[in-house]
Amino acid sequence: MRASTPAVDRLRHAWIFFRHWLKDPLTTASVVPSGDDLARSMAERLTPDDRVVVELGPGTGAITGRLLEQLAVDARFIAVELNAPFAEALAKRFPDLKVATGDARKLAELLPADYRPVDAVVSSLGFLAMPESICREILQAVFEVMGPSGRIIQFSYTPRSPIPQRVLDELGAECKRVSTAWRNLPPAFVFEIRRSG
Ligand SMILES: C[S@@+](CC[C@H](N)C(=O)[O-])C[C@H]1O[C@@H](n2cnc3c(N)ncnc32)[C@H](O)[C@@H]1O
Repeated sequence: MRASTPAVDRLRHAWIFFRHWLKDPLTTASVVPSGDDLARSMAERLTPDDRVVVELGPGTGAITGRLLEQLAVDARFIAVELNAPFAEALAKRFPDLKVATGDARKLAELLPADYRPVDAVVSSLGFLAMPESICREILQAVFEVMGPSGRIIQFSYTPRSPIPQRVLDELGAECKRVSTAWRNLPPAFVFEIRRSG
C-alpha cells in the first residue's frame, strides 16, 4: 500500500482539516493535521508482533501512511474515523485501506470478526478536550476488543496523561509517556496505555 502525498495534497488536507476544525473544534481537536515527526514517533511504537492494528481518529491520514510503512506485510489494519468527509479523503488517499466510518465508542460493532483480539490501537483522539464520560466509553470499547497485552499508542500536546487517573483506575490501566516529537508543531508527547501489572 503506498500513499501519494505530494505537497499539493498535503495543503488540500490541511485546508479540509482547518475547515472542519472551524465547524467542530472539540471533535477535530487540532487546527491542522499532525506533522511527520509525530507520525514517525507513533509508528515507531509498533512491533512485528502487532498483527491486528486499529487506528482511531485518522483524520485525513497524517499518521496513517507511516503506520502502513511500519506494519508487517500480513498484519490486519483498520482506520476508524467519525467524520465522514475525513473518512472519504482517507479512502481516496489510501485506496487499499480498510476504513470504517463511525464512532470509536462502537468499536466492537465496527470491527470485522477476524480483527480480534486487537494488538495495538493507535489513537489521535483528543481525550483532553472530551467529557470524561466519553473518554471512559471509548476506552471501555477499546479494552473490550484488545488482547491482554494489547496497548493504546496515544499522543497529546501536554506532558501529563491525557486520560484522567480515575478512568485509568476504573479500567485497571496505566498510562506511561514513551517519547516526545519535539519537531512537531506544537511538540507532542506519545503515551502507551495498557492493563496494569
Ligand atoms: C486531533 S485529530 C487527528 C487527525 C490525524 N490523526 C492527525 O494526527 O492529523 C482527531 C481525529 O479524531 C476524530 N474523532 C473524534 N472523535 C472520534 C470518535 N469518537 N470516533 C472516531 N473518530 C473520532 C476526528 O474527526 C479527527 O479526525
